Amino acid sequence: MNASTSSSVRKVSLRPVHEADLPLLIQLAGGTEWRSEFESGRMSGEQSVKKRFAEDGFCSDASERLLVCDESGAVIGSVSHFLAHCYSTAREIGWSIHDPALRGRGYGTAAARALVDYLFENFESVHRICCNTDPANTASRRIAEKAGLQYEGLLRGVIFVRGAYIDGAVYGILRPDWQAQRAQAV
Ligand SMILES: CC(C)(COP(=O)(O)OP(=O)(O)OC[C@H]1O[C@@H](n2cnc3c(N)ncnc32)[C@H](O)[C@@H]1OP(=O)(O)O)[C@@H](O)C(=O)NCCC(=O)NCCS
Repeated sequence: MNASTSSSVRKVSLRPVHEADLPLLIQLAGGTEWRSEFESGRMSGEQSVKKRFAEDGFCSDASERLLVCDESGAVIGSVSHFLAHCYSTAREIGWSIHDPALRGRGYGTAAARALVDYLFENFESVHRICCNTDPANTASRRIAEKAGLQYEGLLRGVIFVRGAYIDGAVYGILRPDWQAQRAQAV
């Protein structure tokens, strides 16, 4: 999977990872500086970042990471999608605006919308997109809603953060929902 798209809201764009991005990804993977309380404490480190880039450039049928760029083209965040279930084409999505100083300005919403559009526009087989977030992560829940996903319920004990298994708030959007939202928007 690989392509790029943009959101009309905040004018972010999504692009694949380039070799020149590796120092940033290594910094993100190994550091706690920009890591929020809602993200896994799991560190991946330099070697695993380099290995993944060498293997597939962070892009395979199973999962893909794309970088979020602002209006000037600067990398400000990451989004990802991966196979949600082995029996389905559903994709699970996630997002992050790296620097906390850039959060709360609409970039996360724009990135989530761009990711949903990217998946439905580029991959015909995708019928459902979902996300799973810490119920206390208000910003992430709002982003899901503003990207057109609807709340579906709680999955018990599905997320491991802060040293414990917690419930996940599940949001989802189906292709017909997305098509209807598009039709309404014009
Ligand atoms: C979640 C995250 C991507 C949100 O990005 P963002 O650029 O700050 O989001 P936006 O500016 O588009 O704001 C989206 C909504 O969340 C709200 N929001 C933003 N930060 C918030 C906060 N700290 N607390 C409560 N609400 C918040 C905004 O007010 C907005 O809602 P509104 O339209 O009703 O006003 C960002 O906070 C982040 O990267 N967090 C760390 C990583 C993370 O938690 N990822 C999700 C894992 S599931």
